[in-house]
Amino acid sequence: MTDLWWKSAVVYQIYPRSFADADGDGMGDLRGIIDHLDHLAELGVDVIWLSPIHKSPQDDNGYDISDYQDIDPLFGDLATFDELMTGVHERGMKLIMDLVVNHSSDEHQWFVESRSSKDNPKRDWYWWRPGRDGMEAGTPGAEPTNWGSAFGGPAWEYDKETGEYYMHLFSPKQPDLNWENPEVRGAVYEMMRWWLDRGVDGFRMDVINMISKVLPLADGRLTAGQAYADGSAGYINGPRNHEFLHEMYEQVFAGRTGLLTVGEMPGVTVDEAIRFTDQDRQEVDMVFQFDHVWADRGGDPWRVFPLQLTVLKGIFGRWQAGLAEEGWNSLYWNNHDQPRVVSRYGDDSPEFRAASAKMLGTVLHLHRGTPYVYQGEELGMTNYPFQSITDFRDIEALGQFRQATEIEGREAGDVLTVLRARGRDNARTPMQWDDSPNGGFSTTTPWLAVNPNYPQINAKAERANPDSVFHYYRQLIKLRHDEPAVVDGDFTMLLPNDERLYAFTRKGESAELLVIGNFTGETVEAEIDGWAGAELVLSNLPVNGLTMAPWQAVVYRRPAT
Ligand code: GLC
Repeated sequence: MTDLWWKSAVVYQIYPRSFADADGDGMGDLRGIIDHLDHLAELGVDVIWLSPIHKSPQDDNGYDISDYQDIDPLFGDLATFDELMTGVHERGMKLIMDLVVNHSSDEHQWFVESRSSKDNPKRDWYWWRPGRDGMEAGTPGAEPTNWGSAFGGPAWEYDKETGEYYMHLFSPKQPDLNWENPEVRGAVYEMMRWWLDRGVDGFRMDVINMISKVLPLADGRLTAGQAYADGSAGYINGPRNHEFLHEMYEQVFAGRTGLLTVGEMPGVTVDEAIRFTDQDRQEVDMVFQFDHVWADRGGDPWRVFPLQLTVLKGIFGRWQAGLAEEGWNSLYWNNHDQPRVVSRYGDDSPEFRAASAKMLGTVLHLHRGTPYVYQGEELGMTNYPFQSITDFRDIEALGQFRQATEIEGREAGDVLTVLRARGRDNARTPMQWDDSPNGGFSTTTPWLAVNPNYPQINAKAERANPDSVFHYYRQLIKLRHDEPAVVDGDFTMLLPNDERLYAFTRKGESAELLVIGNFTGETVEAEIDGWAGAELVLSNLPVNGLTMAPWQAVVYRRPAT
């Protein structure tokens, strides 16, 4: 992978079920995406990443795949997919797919065979284990390890048929594939080559730092008050993770050019990320790390901690420095698993929504790395005003709510407060296209309610207003394309101890940029010397030197010395 075109690219993520519904069933589909490709071309993005559209029982909205080489009828068919890919390519963009291979669906033929008997040839394609020593399988506490699953409940499901348990780090309908088995890896690589041969331009790899488990499987640490243990030491960045990704590179990507690979890696450290993304090691191009979106988490999972700006700067600063020489960062505020950033780290009140959305975009996009824009972020879409648990559809929210209230005895109100702030459905409400019923997303009631603010916040209004978040994002994307310092410039964090201003420089060969974002609703003076007379490149508000209005962002340029 010597062709590093993605360093100056911007990626746009589509969550297909919530993007645009063309066939009027309340669910987004491929035709809906085709109908809106010009929106993306106008925004100026280079790559589109599609969340899973493969055949799936939709237990986790498609992150549970039952056929890796077919399209779910909810979304369309392979012919429509090809048409979409052609439309993307014709507009000079690329298309990458989600690759969900830490686990499959329990309805995948592989698992159907695997569970059928202990001596089925595919038995070892998944993680089957007898009950804990001395305990009768199927009785409470007899799970092979004490790990909890991401969506509540244990990470093991008892299967009566053969009297054993199978591992599922996510829902029981998402059994983990056994990557120790070379046949599994071979089948995955073959499927990946099939998509590349069809014309796709790469993959976003789902929880790809969980594919190598630590053997023998062992109990994790149990925290007081929690029903199940954190087993992550047994499956995050396991001993063969690098080996598997390098093998995948050799078997799938070697000799092909123009592709992009990004590994989603919860809990990855900077040192590990350098190894995963060092081009000489031939693993992946970049990773998604989570430290900056976990900055408002503390020891108690059921509390929301206010953002401390110095903590956020510490995290980004560490990642920027760590990956300065080898490796490459991905930059994101949002995706289908995170609440809307303008509600989380900005201010979504009518007064400051647009300004803070633009400020957050500026700070993110001018870091070193490849920015990802999640659908609706370019409109400044906000969190949804969830009232009760029945408003949620997400398997994670529902499962965690059940575990927290029914097993761990927490107050429903406290749990709801956290789900309202952090729940994944905040990102999954339908795209707001215009002010017609259902925000122009669908002609019928959508699978998840549209945010009631769609008459004010929608793509049509944003496109018509030259001062909108949408047009500001266009400028940010164009700046990455036009200004080499944004792509290659050295990163230096300024004012690391300031709780109000986020400031840094990017020093390229011929130009140096100064970026400042005000993370508060107050006017703040930026005490930064040496920039008098610098050229203003971009701002979201009228500029007054280094006096920063509430939620203001400024970008200045001067010749590099
Ligand atoms: C990733 C996906 C998330 C999914 C999980 C299990 O974190 O982004 O949506 O629930 O993996 O596949």
